[in-house]
Amino acid sequence: MKKVTAIYPGSFDPPTNGHLDLIERGSLIFDELRVAILRNSEKQPLFSLGERKNMLEELTAPFKNVSVDTFEGLTVDFAVKVKAKAILRGIRAISDYEYELQMALMNRKLHPELETVFMMPAEQYSYLSSRLVREVAQLGGSIAGLVPELVEERVRGKLDPAVKLQNARQSKAGKR
Ligand code: PNS
Repeated sequence: MKKVTAIYPGSFDPPTNGHLDLIERGSLIFDELRVAILRNSEKQPLFSLGERKNMLEELTAPFKNVSVDTFEGLTVDFAVKVKAKAILRGIRAISDYEYELQMALMNRKLHPELETVFMMPAEQYSYLSSRLVREVAQLGGSIAGLVPELVEERVRGKLDPAVKLQNARQSKAGKR
């Protein structure tokens, strides 16, 4: 049997429990899964590419067939470079479908031999996105349970000092 490699591309700024859930599911069905972090997806990311790579490497260490790469340019070109046969993407809700369908069909047009495989994360993560995690953290809300603990700590380290002070006051007052 031929070995099937898939890539799991994304911005991962920051990685969430939803991403981890999908990585675990992907690692169970593909022989090799390469998490692929896109360079320059946001003009001002919360985490640098290196920081995201470090976090994902730590988080995926238990999965022996998962590795972490960075890439720039077209996802399909990266997939071809690493001899992947599939692109793994998560679909959380019907609202994701249109954008994901568009991307999958464009990627198929660019490289017909590559398949996009959609998987659904566990339902408790169906509302979760990196953008919302960043927003909630920046506005002083708790992101516990939404991201792995090491990500939570590092997000905390990135916050504006005023937000940190407000968070500390709230936890002292027992509000968080
Ligand atoms: O985590 P995201 O931001 O939803 O990931 C989007 C990503 C990185 C998969 C997408 O923007 C992408 O593939 N970008 C690379 C450029 C590319 O190939 N564009 C054409 C895709 S149809």
